[in-house]
Amino acid sequence: MAQLWGGRFTSNTDQEVYDFNASILFDKRLLTVDIAGSRAHVKMLAKQNILTDSDKDAILAGLDSIEEDVKNGKLVITSEYEDVHSFVEAVLTDRIGEPGKRLHTGRSRNDQVALDMRLYTRNRVAGTDSLIHTLLETILKTMEENVATYMPGFTHLQKAQPITLAHHYGAYFEMFRRDRSRLSDLFTRMNQCPLGAGALAGTTYPLDRAYSASLLGFDCPTRNSIDSVADRDYLLEYLFTLSTTMLHLSRFCEEIIIWNSNEYQFVELDDAFSTGSSIMPQKKNPDIAELVRGKTGRVYGALMSLLTTMKGLPLAYNKDMQEDKEVAFDAMDNADNCIHLFTGMIATMRFRKDRMAASAMNGFTNATDAADYLVGKGVAFRDAHKIIGELVLTCIDKGKSIEQMTLAELKEISNVFEEDLYEAVSLETCVEKRLTAGAPGKGVMNDYIKASSEYLASEKALVDPLFG
Ligand code: ARG
Repeated sequence: MAQLWGGRFTSNTDQEVYDFNASILFDKRLLTVDIAGSRAHVKMLAKQNILTDSDKDAILAGLDSIEEDVKNGKLVITSEYEDVHSFVEAVLTDRIGEPGKRLHTGRSRNDQVALDMRLYTRNRVAGTDSLIHTLLETILKTMEENVATYMPGFTHLQKAQPITLAHHYGAYFEMFRRDRSRLSDLFTRMNQCPLGAGALAGTTYPLDRAYSASLLGFDCPTRNSIDSVADRDYLLEYLFTLSTTMLHLSRFCEEIIIWNSNEYQFVELDDAFSTGSSIMPQKKNPDIAELVRGKTGRVYGALMSLLTTMKGLPLAYNKDMQEDKEVAFDAMDNADNCIHLFTGMIATMRFRKDRMAASAMNGFTNATDAADYLVGKGVAFRDAHKIIGELVLTCIDKGKSIEQMTLAELKEISNVFEEDLYEAVSLETCVEKRLTAGAPGKGVMNDYIKASSEYLASEKALVDPLFG
């Protein structure tokens, strides 16, 4: 057991208590950000003449060697240390002696861990944004190729009106675009540096907090030292955003699972993204889509867990907050992995355009347009609705679609029907006439695709100011 706080204690911590308290096994992934924070802290201390330049140089060289040796496996982070912060300080002091003991001047583990989590999360936020940017590029490519790929649009999972694949994908484009906007908002909001808040009440050393903040790529220091060490809002915002992205992915996966089913056969998943059955040789299962849908729950779980952890905590730091890490790391890892794998899955998925168009044709998706046709001939919409309802009933009886009915058969229902009905209710007319902003008609859809591609070109992925 190597701990930083032995002085006040007369007997050793019980081993089980020590293990229960320790966080090293999961916070070791903070090593890089912990060292980055320490570098900025000592540079600031030296600038303020709180530390000599030679102490600063010794500490910086020591930190470099620790980072290097952990990276190449020469130095292993073990459970012998309580947490990553103790590990770095202990090894540093071991290596460079006296100056190592001065590193923690004017700092507490409370502002240190607040800084580490923020730096780590900020970098992950940028990473997620980049993954969603790539996902959006993939979605846009499918849209560009499928402006005239007709399919049924659904409400209540019942065929409703004809749309295009580009239009359907556009809905997901908007969802993921909003997720990016949430990431960008929270990135701005969180980009304030807690370092220098101390345990909670600042410090009597003349720290230059703005200087260390700028060294770490923050816009400014945080404004209240108590809040600085007690706040995990930014992490909650990130977990909420990840939960929403998972929700969007999960709905998309659900649709792909349906489209890939034997009954629909709208799509075929690439072999690389499907799995077989151990007993049924004919099976090709959409496991990746199912797993992404399934992993959504644990990401929500992380959000709920942290919300609950934080809700009763008095100001400022409480050890409960150590519980922010495992669930959040799990959520970040899984969400990023899901976005990445999902992108690969849809990039390689093939569309059965014939089946999609046939399905759009067979389900009376043009019934609204047939009613609109009668309205065009002077029939009131409510009457038209009723006439087409009767027509659909007759069609079902005869096993025909509207356009398969002869003009004579149509006239038996209403003599307003003329030859031009057939054109008016064709799949192409039904889609192409829908030209309101946001609708599937080619004219507006091409404008939308152009604007979306300009958006992707101008709003590049977020970049972490420190880690690139
Ligand atoms: N491992 C701790 C955490 O993750 C570090 C902060 C410890 N601070 C303290 N006052 N015990 O929250």
